[in-house]
Amino acid sequence: LGRPREHWAELGSTNDRALAWARAGAPHGALVTADAQTTGRGRLGRAWASESGEDLYVSAILRPHAGKPIGALGLAVGVGLREGLASWLPAAQLKWPNDVLVGGRKLGGILCEARWVGSSPEVVVGFGVNVGRSLFPGPLADSATSLRRELETAAPSRDEVLARILPALERALEAFFAGGFAAIRGRYEPHCALVGRTVLVDMANGTGAKVQATALGLADDGALLVREEEGPPRRVESGDVWLAP
Ligand code: BTN
Repeated sequence: LGRPREHWAELGSTNDRALAWARAGAPHGALVTADAQTTGRGRLGRAWASESGEDLYVSAILRPHAGKPIGALGLAVGVGLREGLASWLPAAQLKWPNDVLVGGRKLGGILCEARWVGSSPEVVVGFGVNVGRSLFPGPLADSATSLRRELETAAPSRDEVLARILPALERALEAFFAGGFAAIRGRYEPHCALVGRTVLVDMANGTGAKVQATALGLADDGALLVREEEGPPRRVESGDVWLAP
């Protein structure tokens, strides 16, 4: 990953630039980075605060082979990110589907977007990691964190962080494309912030209703398995899940 690479001082969104570059024929592994984004995007239509100039905003173009299931790709990216960060933050956890948390606060997020060209997917994997920022605006004050906030020693540079993340991400993706999520489930589940905990699950029926359940683990295809009281295990395949207060 990273050949070729484009770096921008400012972009709307590295994902948008990567999607356009992919359409224009950029190869598998091409990478877009930016110092700041003016319209950084998160999952479920949320914004990703991206003005600091001290954090990582990265999008990689992937061209998986036709026929490879890619539904759990974001989980594989989470595994790579967590493993890449583990030398600094061994306690970093994954909140299903693919947030990176430290001490319950969000350190990084992942946004995968795909377009189909015939039977071949053209995928942009975007991730943001808070590296050097120490102040977070308003609602993020209690919910976000950075390497700088978590480490007692000086935080590594963005380049150092990316240099550890990229090989870890390559290894996680290689295992995922060879064997599906089942091949890396053992590298996800032990670090999942939700497993064994009481969670609130979005019913995904448009009403905003949530049910309380216990997170049991992950299925081989990456679905989160939960159980409501004494009910049967249920699969959560999309949407959002929160730790119950
Ligand atoms: C989330 O947690 O909801 C996902 C956040 C993803 C943010 C990254 S930053 C680089 C890339 N470009 C974007 O516009 N979004 C992703």
